Amino acid sequence: KLYPVILCGGSGTRLWPMSRKSYPKQFVSMFGKESLLQSTVRRFAGAGFEPPLMLSNNAFRFLVGDQLAQLDAGPSKIVIEPSMRNTAPAIAAAAVILAKQDPDALILVAPSDHVIEDEAAFQTAVNVAADAAAKGAFVTFGIRPTRPETGFGYIELDAAPDGNVPTALPFEKFVEKPDEKAAEKMVASGRYLWNSGMFMFSANAVLAAFEKHAPAVLDVVKLAVKNGAEDLDFFRMSPDYDRADNISFDYAIMENVSGVTVPLDSGWNDLGSWKTVWQEADKDDDGVALGDTATAIDCENTLLQSRGDQVQIVGIGLKNIVAIAMRDAVLVADMDQVQSVKQAVEHLKSIN
Ligand code: GDD
Ligand code: MG
Repeated sequence: KLYPVILCGGSGTRLWPMSRKSYPKQFVSMFGKESLLQSTVRRFAGAGFEPPLMLSNNAFRFLVGDQLAQLDAGPSKIVIEPSMRNTAPAIAAAAVILAKQDPDALILVAPSDHVIEDEAAFQTAVNVAADAAAKGAFVTFGIRPTRPETGFGYIELDAAPDGNVPTALPFEKFVEKPDEKAAEKMVASGRYLWNSGMFMFSANAVLAAFEKHAPAVLDVVKLAVKNGAEDLDFFRMSPDYDRADNISFDYAIMENVSGVTVPLDSGWNDLGSWKTVWQEADKDDDGVALGDTATAIDCENTLLQSRGDQVQIVGIGLKNIVAIAMRDAVLVADMDQVQSVKQAVEHLKSIN
């Protein structure tokens, strides 16, 4: 049986001011559509999947509950992390809980900050992955890189993949978030795929990997699950969880294992910056993407958005600009410098 494990406890700062500490990007509905979290849950609502396990932070528990209720997508279980310890402890917790429930459980880990356009292509890749995972493999879903992105993980293949065939290709090496130079080299070689952030494995295989590569994380998480408690629709882990190392699954586990990767040609995009939001949005012939309460005159390659019906935003004669107006904060940025939003948020934190 295949259990989706949906990670929705992170705080994306690069989409400030729409993504906020108390309301991160996975919960935001952009352009009046459903949120990324809701699309993610919907993706796994079909046949072939067990009810999903949602992992999130205590601060977001009602947000997750409300967004699930709006969807009406069937049952799911919400596991609450008492503090933010990144994805390694969260995935360990999911594996501990699911292995107890079903010793043969297969887990499909999915982040909640992605867009997948071609759901059918995704489903085909999932089927190929499930065969490999059932045999004990660690499966990643690889995306053909289009730029030397330093915010992603890279998977090294023996040879350049032949098209985007949905077969399981073995990999020995996984490099999380390389520096610019290394990323350029990897993209130029043609032998690397981006890590999409989704993984598949059996609960037992990933528990064995934790035992080997991050035993301290696993010990703490086991205790937090053992001392945890059901609370309405939630399962709340105990404060033991706070002692887990703050480390991502990519660094703790993936950089230390080999496995297979299934190339995914499904229009994948990580909505990691305002530029990628603009790329994914519906645009007119001049490349202008507008939210509901936005007006553009003589603009090109520009994204204008505001939130709340009380804020109107107007752009005139803009080129290559992102402008986001919230009631209490406004961002105006060059489209090619939106990575610096992260620094801006750090700066604001330091003066507030
Ligand atoms: N439950 C829970 N708890 N979820 C978390 C936590 C946490 O403490 N921290 C992050 N998440 C969630 C985020 O909400 C997101 O959906 C997912 O886990 C991935 O975390 P990110 O912080 O967005 O990771 P990343 O984007 O820097 O890197 C990962 O994704 C890339 C692709 O988008 C890595 O897997 C990279 O290798 C990959 O290329
Ligand atoms: Mg991300």
